[in-house]
Amino acid sequence: MSEPLLLFRGIEKSFAGNQILKNVNLSIYPGKCILLSGKNGSGKSTLLKIIAGLETPSKAEIEFSGKSHSWKSVIRSIRKNIIYLHQQPYLLSGTVVSNVAYGLRFTHLNRTQRSDSLKEALEWAGLADVANKQAKTLSGGVQQRVAFTRAWILKPKVLLLDEPMANMDYESRMQACDLLKRMKSEGMSIVVTGHDADIFDGLTDKHFHLTEGKLES
Ligand SMILES: Nc1ncnc2c1ncn2[C@@H]1O[C@H](COP(=O)(O)OP(=O)(O)O)[C@@H](O)[C@H]1O
Ligand SMILES: [Mg+2]
Repeated sequence: MSEPLLLFRGIEKSFAGNQILKNVNLSIYPGKCILLSGKNGSGKSTLLKIIAGLETPSKAEIEFSGKSHSWKSVIRSIRKNIIYLHQQPYLLSGTVVSNVAYGLRFTHLNRTQRSDSLKEALEWAGLADVANKQAKTLSGGVQQRVAFTRAWILKPKVLLLDEPMANMDYESRMQACDLLKRMKSEGMSIVVTGHDADIFDGLTDKHFHLTEGKLES
């Protein structure tokens, strides 16, 4: 494999004296997908949030471009390339198109570029037909695709998905998996948590299991 994009080393995390993560190492490669499984409460969400810069580890180093840094000293600069998506997509009240457009407010695109980018994204995700529907009235699977698309349009280097398929039927899972495969083929790195490895068939390149605070392959 090529060089990792980011290597998280020696992640430790305790909550109130209870150690959740013990010396966890995780390498994220460009255009590859890692599946992280583990029973409820094993620390999957905590690990994703540490990678996303949303939770502070007790200890962690991050290596990139051949250098090691403390988590604290570099997380601010790397987290703009990382998007974390919750299991329950946070959608705004409003249409699908306004939800997808939301992320673009933080970019430097002008009006025409935004409109082109939006159109491309909705077509890319197969959401053009529902573009003007109220997002929250759509099925869980479609809502999750709206959330994926809102992330994709910002072109993060790393996408972290916390149990994205938990409330989806078979067909929605296939559609969501298809979008994720296309994100990967564009070079995006994905870390996804879930219980059932079969759901992610053809998507994941590496599977780790979190048990008693340790990551096992
Ligand atoms: N903010 C928090 N404060 C205290 N304990 C927490 C917090 N977040 C998670 N935990 C605890 O850490 C453990 C791991 O939680 P979590 O990372 O959500 O696991 P998973 O996502 O695998 O279900 C659980 O025992 C949970 O109760
Ligand atoms: Mg969780």
